Amino acid sequence: MKLPPPRLKGQLTVEEAIAQRRSQRVYAEEPLKLWELGQLLWAAQGITDPKRGFRAAPSAGATYPLEVYVMVSAGGVEDLNPGVYRYIPEQHSLQPIKAGDFSGELCRAALNQPWVEKAPVKIVICAVFERTTSRYGERGVRYVYMEAGHVGENLYLQAEALGLATVAVGAFHDDEVQKILGAPGNHKPIYIYPVGRKP
Ligand SMILES: Cc1cc2nc3c(=O)[nH]c(=O)nc-3n(C[C@H](O)[C@H](O)[C@H](O)COP(=O)(O)O)c2cc1C
Repeated sequence: MKLPPPRLKGQLTVEEAIAQRRSQRVYAEEPLKLWELGQLLWAAQGITDPKRGFRAAPSAGATYPLEVYVMVSAGGVEDLNPGVYRYIPEQHSLQPIKAGDFSGELCRAALNQPWVEKAPVKIVICAVFERTTSRYGERGVRYVYMEAGHVGENLYLQAEALGLATVAVGAFHDDEVQKILGAPGNHKPIYIYPVGRKP
């Protein structure tokens, strides 16, 4: 499913977004718009140099180990069925993985952090480590975590610029999250970003 094209102008300067950014764990019970979800995914991993395939966040040796999954709750995003999707940067599109609302299961896998259940959207950053370690050996592991941090900050700042709220969640059971996502064995979850509208 094609996402609306990203917008390159917003309401806040980057300085304002940095100054205002806070982790937020309470969200309005209002759906996100499809373009807002697309904008967040573009900020995370969108293609910003189509000629070379380079993306919004830097990557060691442009090895791009990260895979971004989206979990949409029932009524979480306008014009999008609840389910798990994978973001395809090259097409700026969503690939459906499984249908249904798995918010409760994801919350339990994340040590019952309520914001994981309540957020209308959860963006899960996964990594295929061997894409980077095949070039850089063991050091590639640290590069992958660094890259996830870059993507996470882009998500925070883009959310702020859109008037949305998010929080980085690193505390969860990896295997359970992977199973809930329906992700292949080498897609290892690193970060969960619940996202919603500010209350
Ligand atoms: C690697 C990492 C893991 C985190 N894990 C969680 C988490 O599991 N649950 C949570 O509520 N917040 C989590 N946070 C958010 C921090 O609690 C938050 O960034 C910190 O309190 C500072 O607040 P600020 O982000 O508003 O500046 C995490 C942050 C980072 C960077």
